[in-house]
Amino acid sequence: IKLHPTIFIVFGGTGDLNARKLAPALYNLFIEGHMPHDFAMIGTGRTKLTNETFRGKMQNGVNSYSRNVPANKEVWEAFSRNIFYQSSDANDAESYKEFDIRIKNLNAKWKTEAQVIFYLAVAPEFFPIIAKNIEAAGLSDPKSTRIVIEKPFGHNLKSSIELNELLAKIYQEKQIYRIDHYLGKAAVQNILTFRFANSILEPLWNSEHIEHVQISVTEQLGVQDRGDYYDNSGALRDMIQNHVLQLLCLIAMEPPVTSNSDSIRDSKVNVLRSIRKFSRTEVHTSSVRGQYSGGLVENVPVPGYLHESKVNPHSNTETFAAIKFLIDNDRWRGVPFYLRSGKRMQQSSSLITIHFKESAYATFPNGLKNHIHQNKLVISIQPEMSIRLQMQAKRPQVDMDITPVDMVFDFKETFKNQAPEAYETLLLDTMKGDQTLFMRADQVEAAWEVVMPILDSWQNDQDFKLFEYPANSVNAQVGEDLITKDGFSWFDLPLQNKKASA
Ligand code: BG6
Repeated sequence: IKLHPTIFIVFGGTGDLNARKLAPALYNLFIEGHMPHDFAMIGTGRTKLTNETFRGKMQNGVNSYSRNVPANKEVWEAFSRNIFYQSSDANDAESYKEFDIRIKNLNAKWKTEAQVIFYLAVAPEFFPIIAKNIEAAGLSDPKSTRIVIEKPFGHNLKSSIELNELLAKIYQEKQIYRIDHYLGKAAVQNILTFRFANSILEPLWNSEHIEHVQISVTEQLGVQDRGDYYDNSGALRDMIQNHVLQLLCLIAMEPPVTSNSDSIRDSKVNVLRSIRKFSRTEVHTSSVRGQYSGGLVENVPVPGYLHESKVNPHSNTETFAAIKFLIDNDRWRGVPFYLRSGKRMQQSSSLITIHFKESAYATFPNGLKNHIHQNKLVISIQPEMSIRLQMQAKRPQVDMDITPVDMVFDFKETFKNQAPEAYETLLLDTMKGDQTLFMRADQVEAAWEVVMPILDSWQNDQDFKLFEYPANSVNAQVGEDLITKDGFSWFDLPLQNKKASA
């Protein structure tokens, strides 16, 4: 489709997100022919920079992080002539008039009224003031403007409701794009296609055939330089409340009534609302939390969480969380969903594993039956993008022996082309006005409702254990009790990330 002329105004323009993700995404969209003919990106921040210096920063970002590198000189020039910088203080309402002038100038040049996308790549404490100042400058017209915000959407249920209320006073919901970048990942987007475009799966996708589900998002990295943010957040808020629960929604949701964005989001909200809200005792039996201590990554010593910069040395913030959720609806009654996420684990991987129930048929003699493993469907989101169906096969030999084998669909091998980065998909969708992959206000609140009893117990019950795991611990050994006590074990693909970053 032909996109309408677009102006991106990026608050936090000199920040990390712009250089690492937004500029490279716009650049890739540009060279692959997805940008509108007329577009501009205006970065803004307090630092004083010329357009040229700002373009240089963006070029470094593109050269370091884009999947299409290095930026070819001519192409870069064609792209970067659309990049501008405006030095201004987001708190200063007067400075927003300058955006208005720039927008009017571009509109006059392009002989149209461009759509304007305000991108708030800033800390959440700036959301309210920027949102208000945009309105005060007369720049929140529902016909031509949108606002994009990055998580965290609140620190708990109460503050997320406050934020939603504040935004709703200024913007219509159709103007608000709350980013959960996991939803832009190619392998995540494929989940719904895979579930609903393949008729063989749906009959099996329920408690009659599925024994349990695991959703695991682990990282090798520690908190890096984000200690101040993270120490006030922790794994449950940082990863489970958003990314991991969204993966659960994609696995557990009912087929949406239509393919429009609200139908899809309605189905997801229904899942969140069906998740059992824990009592205090249930929090104790259904969750574990941990914190990494020092260890060796690739033989290089790395500090424990309490020694990371900008972290309180007595902090009891969790860097690992695992929760067993139950979904109280007809499809899923009795099927545990084990979710976990942690930093400084041995493996960086995002994996969803559906464990099917054992075959009821006793066709094979006892000795052989012991060789039969459950069927598993493994959806790997990263680093490998694949779907594996683990089946049983007879070994090609004269005597009878049964062994598990994988039927593998590997995105890279099948499609050859590079998958777009999450932010490419998401930025393109903001230009198209498609909100499917963005979090609606009620989705965010429903997800907070799910985690609040856990957060409250963790905070209030002095006896809730925070266990310690050394950096680089084998994934399966961290927080294993939660799952082993039910007779299961964490599933991981063989270690792929040989090269660890300290
Ligand atoms: C972010 C979290 O939302 O997701 C980070 O704040 C985390 O702590 C990151 O590292 C993981 O994203 P990805 O795309 O690298 O898996």
